[in-house]
Amino acid sequence: MLPEHRRCGIATQLAYAAENEARVRGWDRISLSVSQEGNAPARLLYEQLGHVDACTHPVRVSGTISLPGRPFQVDDTLVYLTKLL
Ligand SMILES: CC(C)(COP(=O)(O)OP(=O)(O)OC[C@H]1O[C@@H](n2cnc3c(N)ncnc32)[C@H](O)[C@@H]1OP(=O)(O)O)[C@@H](O)C(=O)NCCC(=O)NCCS
Repeated sequence: MLPEHRRCGIATQLAYAAENEARVRGWDRISLSVSQEGNAPARLLYEQLGHVDACTHPVRVSGTISLPGRPFQVDDTLVYLTKLL
């Protein structure tokens, strides 16, 4: 989210739209990963949406991942969260 558009509820609405699409496809849960300690805003967003710890081990990730249009350097530990739909 562009910084000037944050805290306006846009990520929340996008997440709800993704959840609705998942329900339409017949899925019964959504899971995602987030930085264990390095991204409090995202973690709070997902917790407010109802995601809980998936009780899996944290995963260390480092290297280059591909995001749409550009490579992205990652060096982080991720935890997995899940939400029943
Ligand atoms: C995380 C991110 C997607 C949130 O987007 P957003 O549109 O600002 O989120 P929303 O306005 O829907 O916020 C919903 C809730 O998330 C939490 N939250 C979001 N930003 C927060 C912040 N800076 N500090 C604390 N809580 C925050 C709050 O609980 C908020 O509810 P509230 O505003 O009623 O208190 C945005 O900050 C962002 O793009 N960050 C950089 C990229 C990123 O981290 N992506 C996620 C990778 S896992």
